[in-house]
Amino acid sequence: MSITNFPGSANSSPLDPSITKVTIPALAEMKRQGKPISALTAYDYATSRLVDEAGIDLVLVGDSLAMVVMGHDNTLAVTVDEMLHHTRAVRRAVRRALVVADMPFGSYHGTVAEGVANAVRFIKEAGAEAVKIEGPRVAQVEALTDAEIPVIGHLGLTPQSVHRMGGYRVQAKSVDTIQQIKADARALEEAGAGLLVLEGIPREVAAEITAELTIPTIGIGAGPDCDGQILVFHDMVNLSFAPKAKFARRYGDAAELFRAAIEQYREDVEHRAFPSDEESYHLSSAVRKELEAEHGETTPMKHLRKA
Ligand code: KIV
Repeated sequence: MSITNFPGSANSSPLDPSITKVTIPALAEMKRQGKPISALTAYDYATSRLVDEAGIDLVLVGDSLAMVVMGHDNTLAVTVDEMLHHTRAVRRAVRRALVVADMPFGSYHGTVAEGVANAVRFIKEAGAEAVKIEGPRVAQVEALTDAEIPVIGHLGLTPQSVHRMGGYRVQAKSVDTIQQIKADARALEEAGAGLLVLEGIPREVAAEITAELTIPTIGIGAGPDCDGQILVFHDMVNLSFAPKAKFARRYGDAAELFRAAIEQYREDVEHRAFPSDEESYHLSSAVRKELEAEHGETTPMKHLRKA
């Protein structure tokens, strides 16, 4: 595309030029200005619209969808094609927020070239604006940056390492592991990561990393001193059917809301209280009269008088 016919200003939303699109440089500027960054996961059109319209800065199509949407025990089973499918739905909904696709387990654990090829699919086929990868994979971050793909690092409790970690445990609790995570964070920044997710680490460690890096940190179970926060959407609204983690504050009870609506609907159907006559379509009086003249007034036709 020629920049002379680029719709709107350089950072306006391609879907709505009146909206200023959130970009990686815009998030870096928020860090410089001390403005907290809000992020949430989302996996489908409806929730992504709500998240975007509420002004959340970053939408992550997280591989957590393996658990909260697909019902797996951990995040390992979800495939690139499944992640692409959800990323496309999110992309269609989001106008303002930065859309980030999580690269699933196995999609960047072979060669660096395979990782780049899979990341290209998220940008090209699904419209993601950045990808996220877990762990201190410095060479992969460098290669993605070289390929013009904005990349977000993820350190600490990295769910794709569940088997190596022996469960979902808080990380970076000893002096050695604190030194290691700090070194990894610096290395990811130097390799070109645009942002860093810090998950399940002590507040003090996250605060030090946040102060040291120039790129923004986004915390989940990493305390309030990160540059931004992210939660899994389903945890935030009580739809994850899992024990609540310490950090996962509940902002609403969608399970309760949905359950009540579903039960009321079932009762209404069972008692023939749904649908009502007002919720029904009717014949025109001309057609009704014609039918009555032909067949006489049948019982069901009596109900159609209102048309
Ligand atoms: O998949 C996910 O939801 C994530 C967040 C927890 C950061 O990676």
